[in-house]
Amino acid sequence: MCMVIFAPVLATFAFATCGGYSGHLRVKVDCADKSQANITISFGYPFRFEQVHFKVPLCEVKRHETLFLEGDFSTPAQFFVTVAVFAFLYSLLATVIYIFYQKEYREKNRGPLLDFLVTVIFASMWLLSSCAWAKALSGVKETMDSAQILFLMAACRDPVNDCEALEKPVWTRLHTSVIFGFLNVSLWAGNVWFAYKETGLHKTSQRANRTLSEKQSSFSQRQYSQQSSFDQSGATLGQQLYRQVSFDHSGGGISLPHASLGQASSLFNTSSRGPLILINDM
Ligand SMILES: *[C@@H]1O[C@H](CO)[C@@H](O)[C@H](O)[C@H]1NC(C)=O
Repeated sequence: MCMVIFAPVLATFAFATCGGYSGHLRVKVDCADKSQANITISFGYPFRFEQVHFKVPLCEVKRHETLFLEGDFSTPAQFFVTVAVFAFLYSLLATVIYIFYQKEYREKNRGPLLDFLVTVIFASMWLLSSCAWAKALSGVKETMDSAQILFLMAACRDPVNDCEALEKPVWTRLHTSVIFGFLNVSLWAGNVWFAYKETGLHKTSQRANRTLSEKQSSFSQRQYSQQSSFDQSGATLGQQLYRQVSFDHSGGGISLPHASLGQASSLFNTSSRGPLILINDM
């Protein structure tokens, strides 16, 4: 639960830096006839540029043109903010459940399993949305590039008029939001491992293996004492015994454990079973 502190904070930084953004581009148009105009183009989250429009003087006559920008980056931007908000809510909820409903959380291992699943989903959502948002941001910056905007204005395409960008948008906050996006990716990806350990799945599978082999060996011991036919599970015991015997030999041990000596002798005495097992062991 190292996510308790970091996850809500990092998620908040991610959606605040992106969702709260608004930027401005200020352009000065100096017409050849000495008339002048300053144009401010405002834009912001969710970066739906079809809705951004502004009036620009045409210079040669006392008229204006209304220009619309192009490009819609609202899908990746809203996706990013949505993932961040839900990650924030989930990490708060998980913390509350983990602290106050520990018993219900542990019951039938349902809590840890669900937490693991949701964490995997959030880790992949963070990765997807951060990549999408990083790509969208480069599109946003391209759209708001001052040279690009000036080129849209008829007056500025005419070299007799003088156009200039007075104030360019500040991108620091949006760059920060991308960085926070990828910080969240690594936090949640790391969390997948902790959530997995919390489920106890890896311990369960180890324990299951051990129990299985114990059952097999006790079962095959019974089989050997009854001198019944060769069984698949006997291979396990055979391998164990073979290792034990060969270890004892290499160790220069004179005394084999009593039980295993008896088992070993029964193993090697029972017709064709011995060699078969030894080959099996290779
Ligand atoms: C435009 O902005 C410049 C610099 O900020 C200022 O000097 C000028 O007076 C402004 N012009 C108009 C028409 O507002």
